[in-house]
Amino acid sequence: MLYTSDENQGLVKVLQFLKAHGMEYLSGEDLSEVLKISRVAIWKHIKKIQSLGYKIESKQNLGYRLLDTTNLLLPWEINYELRTNQIGKKVYYFDSIDSTQNYANSIAKNPDEFGSVVIAQTQILGKGRQGRKWISPKGGIWMSVILRPNFDVYKITIIPFAVAVALHNAIQKTLKIETKLKWPNDLTSSGKKIAGIIIDASIESTKIESVVVGIGINFCVNPKQIERQIKKNGNFYGVNTLTTDKNLKSAPLVRQFLVELELIMEELGQNKIQSIVKKWTENSSTLGKNITVTEGGVKITGKAAGIDKDGSLLILQGSKSIRITSGDITYD
Ligand code: BTN
Repeated sequence: MLYTSDENQGLVKVLQFLKAHGMEYLSGEDLSEVLKISRVAIWKHIKKIQSLGYKIESKQNLGYRLLDTTNLLLPWEINYELRTNQIGKKVYYFDSIDSTQNYANSIAKNPDEFGSVVIAQTQILGKGRQGRKWISPKGGIWMSVILRPNFDVYKITIIPFAVAVALHNAIQKTLKIETKLKWPNDLTSSGKKIAGIIIDASIESTKIESVVVGIGINFCVNPKQIERQIKKNGNFYGVNTLTTDKNLKSAPLVRQFLVELELIMEELGQNKIQSIVKKWTENSSTLGKNITVTEGGVKITGKAAGIDKDGSLLILQGSKSIRITSGDITYD
């Protein structure tokens, strides 16, 4: 099932009206009169809103009131009071999909989709980096964001770092959880993976035409269940979850992430590459560690010494310095 705000305007009007009136009861008659929707349609919208996980109390002679919102990342929950200029204004929400990344890639060429977000409750064929599968059960945040940065192509390698910093900041601001950044694209908590980032770009001559940023966040998942399915992956180092509280809403985190993403992409547009790399480095767990890099079956060990201005990892092997542009790392 796919939901967009455009196709649910009546429902969204009823919901926003209930939200705006807090704990006040609103009669079906009042809702119908103010919103210019028939009583029958109001009743149908209320039933649908309840079926989407919102708690609406209905009392005879008094009317309806909203007691709690949903846990689902529905488009109107993302749009609600979203303080961005472009990103997240249009949201596609799927109960289940093969991969939000595939869907976003299929629409990314359309100029109207600049800033669109594709979100799913579950993914059947979630895509991870290096051709790996990304396990995407209910409770996680699985989303792809379409960007049209119009940057010179050399900036492309910095985008994953910018996205990681945006996500780190959003998690810190909304949940007060301190995550660490692990080269190249991971966010960790207590040394285990909490989120991953994948980037697909379409390049036209020397410009980046469109970028689809895929973000997978283990928001409220069962780490053991995911670990069982990926333990055999070469780069496995444990899975963590941001919360175990099933009542905690994830929409504030998504909204804050979109705000942070828009801001940091603007910085990248203004060539503030060093400042972005600095922010990444300050919150990284990688630098200073003895690590092993695996790329194309080849293993290199050494000490992670720094991040170059293109995002490469610099490794020291005795007095020799080696630049790594891609691959997986493990901490020794
Ligand atoms: C990684 O391997 O660390 C990157 C994982 C990226 C997963 C996200 S979930 C939403 C989006 N859709 C996908 O199929 N993959 C990305």
